[in-house]
Amino acid sequence: MVIGNWKMNPQTEKEALDLARGVSNQLGEVGLPQVEVGIAPPFVFLEKVAGVIENTSILLGAQDVFWKKNGAYTGEVSIKELRSVGVDFVIIGHSERRKMGETDEEINEKVVTSLKGNFVTILCVGETKEARGRGIDSAKEFVASELRKDLEGVDGLLEKNAENLVIAYEPRWAISTEEGSQPAAPEKAVEMISFIKKFLKTKKVIPSGEVRIIYGGSVNSTNALSFFAKDEIEGALVGSASLECREFVSIVDSSIIK
Ligand code: PGA
Repeated sequence: MVIGNWKMNPQTEKEALDLARGVSNQLGEVGLPQVEVGIAPPFVFLEKVAGVIENTSILLGAQDVFWKKNGAYTGEVSIKELRSVGVDFVIIGHSERRKMGETDEEINEKVVTSLKGNFVTILCVGETKEARGRGIDSAKEFVASELRKDLEGVDGLLEKNAENLVIAYEPRWAISTEEGSQPAAPEKAVEMISFIKKFLKTKKVIPSGEVRIIYGGSVNSTNALSFFAKDEIEGALVGSASLECREFVSIVDSSIIK
């Protein structure tokens, strides 16, 4: 699974559609049976981007969702609204939103709402630089705490389709726009991903223990293969590099080689 998270980019509809067309032209016709590819543009471009990728296997994602069904919630967007414009998956709990004040309780409401709505739900977790600086145990505890709170009450929702939940392990210090960032060494990503898998299984958060875990943080065309070569890493959440059509397509290519 390779997901492009466009964040608050690009700035115009024309640029957004050009990027979507580029990705779609280069990937869409191929069909990509072995890999799920998705793009998550800003809300305002969702509908038109949906039109561009309509006849391809590329999935359309939103970068957030609100948990209420409808009503007086200025600025928020509901699951039903997202579905009505063709959204397939939702990214929830990205560290940039957490930094802006989103709490684990809110993230949990969103995860539950999204899974109940039968959406593929990509939950982002990952430790801060400070937590990692205190050592691996502290980093694991940070991630475990996020998982515990964000996934409260989801087990019953996953009995039929555990594949609807995807965890994106994104150490905050690895996100390309963070000061002094650098990608996690693939071995370090594997270590945390193995911990997450074990944690979910032993805590019985996920009934079957089957949930996909992908990595995010400074993935680009140069290093993508080093992540995809690891069996434990089942895909990538790509930020900056997803804004360059060629870069993104090349990352997808690396995942196919796997
Ligand atoms: P990056 O962003 O690829 O630019 O590091 C990843 C993310 O924040 O999802």
